[in-house]
Amino acid sequence: MKWRIRTMLTKRLAACAAQVTPAGVVCDVGTDHAYLPAELLQSGRCTRAVATDIHAGPLEAARRTLTEAGVLEQAELFLCDGLEQVQPAGITDVVIAGMGGETIVHILENCPWRRQVHLILQPMTKIPDLRLWLAQQGFGWSEQVVQEGEKFYVILSARHTGTVRILSPLEQEIGCVDWQSESVRRYAGWKQQRFQKLAQQLEQAGRAEAADWAALAQAIQEKL
Ligand SMILES: C[S@@+](CC[C@H](N)C(=O)[O-])C[C@H]1O[C@@H](n2cnc3c(N)ncnc32)[C@H](O)[C@@H]1O
Repeated sequence: MKWRIRTMLTKRLAACAAQVTPAGVVCDVGTDHAYLPAELLQSGRCTRAVATDIHAGPLEAARRTLTEAGVLEQAELFLCDGLEQVQPAGITDVVIAGMGGETIVHILENCPWRRQVHLILQPMTKIPDLRLWLAQQGFGWSEQVVQEGEKFYVILSARHTGTVRILSPLEQEIGCVDWQSESVRRYAGWKQQRFQKLAQQLEQAGRAEAADWAALAQAIQEKL
């Protein structure tokens, strides 16, 4: 029996799905239950989907979801690290969500066709490292912040432009964001308090980096 998957997408995954090119072909890396490609295929937003996972269990779960959603025929599944076994032909968008920033960098570094597609990235950790890597590699991007309860999620929509950029400390830590957005302002306010506290702790410990974190907290304060 076919069933609608839409209600299963969290706000975070729905925000990733909304960035995918209409009528495109999505590749979801680290797909786990394949909720994202199942929704994109069922809704008709994508004509075809590729889903990968490094572990067999999640990939089996992905197969079940796609089967129950009645869209397995439009999907290809690969058990591999990142995009290692994926051929780029036709793929418009690559989504890498719910993983650490260092894993996302590792996956992209090993993908020779990363410059040809739209990247939708939702890192859980090490977000400044991912931003630095993208800037050094000549990617341009925009960011949005999604809030689910107490948690904030950052989603980057990136394309290769060839322009290498130097990021300011504020751009590294908060991102290339729209400061008018309510969720960005809440996120930045939360980060500002964390940086301020860190600066105080470092100062008490006599550490020189205290000044950098205090300056960052001040730079955020001036934007809010
Ligand atoms: C926390 S889940 C995220 C699932 C989904 N993308 C989401 O955002 O809800 C992370 C998934 O990524 C997979 N994974 C981790 N490292 C990977 C890699 N290098 N290549 C492919 N899949 C990976 C894990 O097996 C797991 O299923």
